Amino acid sequence: MASEGPRALVAGNWKMNGSVAMLKEPRLLAAMLKDVKLKADVMVCPPAVLMRRVKSILKGSKIKLGGQDCHWAASGAHTGDVSAEMLKEAGCSAVIVGHSERRTNHGETDAIVQKKAKACQRAGLTAIICIGETLDERKAGSTLAVVTRQLKGSLPEGSVAANTVIAYEPVWAIGTGLTPTTAEVAEVHALIRAELAGLMGGEGAQTRILYGGSVKPSNAAELMGQPNVNGALVGGASLKAADFLGIIKVYA
Ligand code: PGA
Repeated sequence: MASEGPRALVAGNWKMNGSVAMLKEPRLLAAMLKDVKLKADVMVCPPAVLMRRVKSILKGSKIKLGGQDCHWAASGAHTGDVSAEMLKEAGCSAVIVGHSERRTNHGETDAIVQKKAKACQRAGLTAIICIGETLDERKAGSTLAVVTRQLKGSLPEGSVAANTVIAYEPVWAIGTGLTPTTAEVAEVHALIRAELAGLMGGEGAQTRILYGGSVKPSNAAELMGQPNVNGALVGGASLKAADFLGIIKVYA
């Protein structure tokens, strides 16, 4: 049973995976979801070069398109980057910002993530802001402090529920097959919900908080059933339509 609250979102983050051959998966997913009534929004976030093809595959389906990252500027001399405006034009409705792989591999700080989130909102997109502690931070007992600091530092002022999603992703659970206990997930999500009330007022209660990190069909129902868990950000298991469907079905 999925928990109560704002309408859920299940988003698939393909990361740097995908190819023209793999486009059969979203095609399959769209077909499988055609007649399923869902209590959640579904989104796929492919690499930027596949965006156009995925968009045309998803045309007429209920699956939305999202980006994996963006620059904070609308345009300019930023070789290799894409802007939120470009992603909007490509058909995206949201962009993941501050994923731990960006924070770790590209040195993105909370201040940078906040600028990127603001850029998404400026472009009329929803910012999916990722936060989460490392294993060392969890072991040191600083999970709640880290998550609070990242949330406060990454959330733009004036954010509202319609343009903001928070994704709690413990770094040590990403791609490892490990997940926090349900009590640990519930604890962090309750903290985020309380912090959002302070930061966003009444909008905080309506803002979706996703859990991410080794979500798969076998653990999705339990994780999504925790209070204040309003969906999932899925990496590996979003690459295969059947696996992704197994997670989405929690909301069928
Ligand atoms: P995973 O990745 O589902 O493969 O653990 C989650 C993420 O990084 O968003």
